[in-house]
Amino acid sequence: MVRLRVRTGASAGRSFELLGQVVSIGRAPTNDVVIDDVHVSAEHARIVLGPAVMLEDLGSTNGTSLVRAGQRTTLGEAAGLMAALEDGDLIELGGRDAVTVIDVALIDDEIAARVVAVRRIDDLGRITPGVEDNPRSLSALYEAQKKIGGASGLTETLAAVADAVLGLVQRATHVTIVLREVEKGEGAYVPVMTRVRAVHGSGVAPAGPVPITRSIFRKVVGERAAVLAADAPRDVGQSESLLGASIRSTIGVPLWKGDDILGVLQVDNRDAPGMLHQDDVEVLTVLAANASLAVAGARLIDRLVAAEERLHKENTFLKDREQNRQGGARPILGQSSAMSALLTQLEKVVDTRVTVLIEGETGTGKELIASALHYRSRRREKLFVTQNCAAMPENLLESELFGHRRGSFTGATEDKKGLFELADGGTLFLDEVTEMPLVLQAKLLRVLQEGEVRPLGATSPKHVSVRIVAASNRNLEKEVSAGRFREDLYYRLKVFPLRVPPLRERRDDVLLLAQAFLSSYAKELGKAVPPFSQQAAELLVAYDWPGNVRELQNEMQRIAIETSGQDFVIAESLSARIRRVETLIDRGGIAKGTLKEMMESVEKYLLLEALREHGQNKTSAAKALGITREGLHKKLRQLGIS
Ligand SMILES: Nc1ncnc2c1ncn2[C@@H]1O[C@H](COP(=O)(O)OP(=O)(O)OP(=O)(O)O)[C@@H](O)[C@H]1O
Ligand SMILES: [Mg+2]
Repeated sequence: MVRLRVRTGASAGRSFELLGQVVSIGRAPTNDVVIDDVHVSAEHARIVLGPAVMLEDLGSTNGTSLVRAGQRTTLGEAAGLMAALEDGDLIELGGRDAVTVIDVALIDDEIAARVVAVRRIDDLGRITPGVEDNPRSLSALYEAQKKIGGASGLTETLAAVADAVLGLVQRATHVTIVLREVEKGEGAYVPVMTRVRAVHGSGVAPAGPVPITRSIFRKVVGERAAVLAADAPRDVGQSESLLGASIRSTIGVPLWKGDDILGVLQVDNRDAPGMLHQDDVEVLTVLAANASLAVAGARLIDRLVAAEERLHKENTFLKDREQNRQGGARPILGQSSAMSALLTQLEKVVDTRVTVLIEGETGTGKELIASALHYRSRRREKLFVTQNCAAMPENLLESELFGHRRGSFTGATEDKKGLFELADGGTLFLDEVTEMPLVLQAKLLRVLQEGEVRPLGATSPKHVSVRIVAASNRNLEKEVSAGRFREDLYYRLKVFPLRVPPLRERRDDVLLLAQAFLSSYAKELGKAVPPFSQQAAELLVAYDWPGNVRELQNEMQRIAIETSGQDFVIAESLSARIRRVETLIDRGGIAKGTLKEMMESVEKYLLLEALREHGQNKTSAAKALGITREGLHKKLRQLGIS
């Protein structure tokens, strides 16, 4: 028996005797043990009574710790989320600031004193013939087997097993089936079904919890044996004649598969006269041999069905989300020769598996190009998965990309698929790849070389077919020479480099893009789209767009919001920084003309200004302008300045 006594907090002084096999602890009134302290979570922890008494944290906010001989273990940290309790342990609910302390007392059941019979499952071969020699037990076993075999699904199978037990052992009053939670590494044993003999012999669900006899349980699992134990008579005093009439007896039988103990059948005689017998142990052992197979099979099928459903859900969810986000394949605008060249290159690689590295300044359209690589390829039916490598700390990024098995680190409470696996058959876009920590770069290289990923904590790798597209707005070569990026990975990624030119290298596209963005934003707002005035258009083309297409897009969005009822988007509607070029023109006394003429005047003005600022020293003026001395000379000559 387990007794908890609360030492501190609102429930201080209360004790609880745990009767059920799974006892929940928490603040919510629905718990078996209600602790009404604010630092305790609604469903904080639970205790599972099996051969061992396991304490499990249920993902509480402030945590659960175990103190044994002054040593504190916090569940979910170094240890798993579960720990076995021992007599004298302290349970702490909560953290450093506020904690509820609970004393644990484990009191052994007295029934352990009277083990009457033990039959090891390894002796099954010797037990079976004896049972089968008895025609009555043989036909009962046959009937039981038919019922169990006809059941489908785990619940039905367990009910059939429980009823078969009641059918085979007439003096049994209660049957409890306890199974190990296989999903959970530590394997707590949890009672999953209890049946009580009804008046007419078959089983019904019990009114209250039927306690598991832990000492028997331990013996069954520890010795891989069926065990019969009997309680010493209590009320009847020492009278030998009454022995057998009021003895409470229990049989524990293992359910097993190979070396693995899957669970335990506990068969009780609690209130009927007469006790369970050694023959019952043997019949139940033979039954259990077959029932084990049925239970293991039903369980496997249930789990496969659940896994399939989860997978299906996961897939539709991700696909929908992805399609919404991308709105299908978005058009890439641009007629400049730089853009046409880029698109030609892109078409060459869409349907290959080569790794593509996209380099370009911020806002140039790297992500757009990456998504085009996916949505224009045959992979478009599968997922296009994006991960920004700068967005997370190393360990999270690692589990995001590679996935993990439950329990491989603190907080890994479930198996998680990595993005490489999710993108299988599709495309994985690694944005800002230069920000990936060196440790992960090594792992990424391995995936690229071997086409296999190994989730954290997994024992074997998984084969994946993923198209990798990487992007960076840094110069990768520089990152390599600075030692921040692995050279071998660089060569792997650089198989097919695409450079997205900055907007100032394709000024021919500016108006095309500006008009497209402006009209789409205006349409969204239900406004008419005014054209650009001549002057506004010239300023847009002349501006350098350090934020590239994104900056242009934002500018157009602002204008769409602000204009109303104008015939033209005029120069005054543009942001000050774009109009600065105009200020220059005014200051330099530059006459309006063609774009080329104006650009030359601006350049001339800027060169003369720089020379003036540097006392006509060409070397330092060139340095300030960011060009070589020779470059400056050439420019001055071109512009007719001597
Ligand atoms: N050629 C283009 N045609 C249409 N839209 C474009 C084009 N290039 C870029 N855009 C748009 O400009 C915005 C910025 O592009 P994107 O996010 O792809 O840039 P990026 O290079 O990934 O930027 P960053 O380096 O900042 O991540 C997006 O809304 C994108 O749709
Ligand atoms: Mg981007």
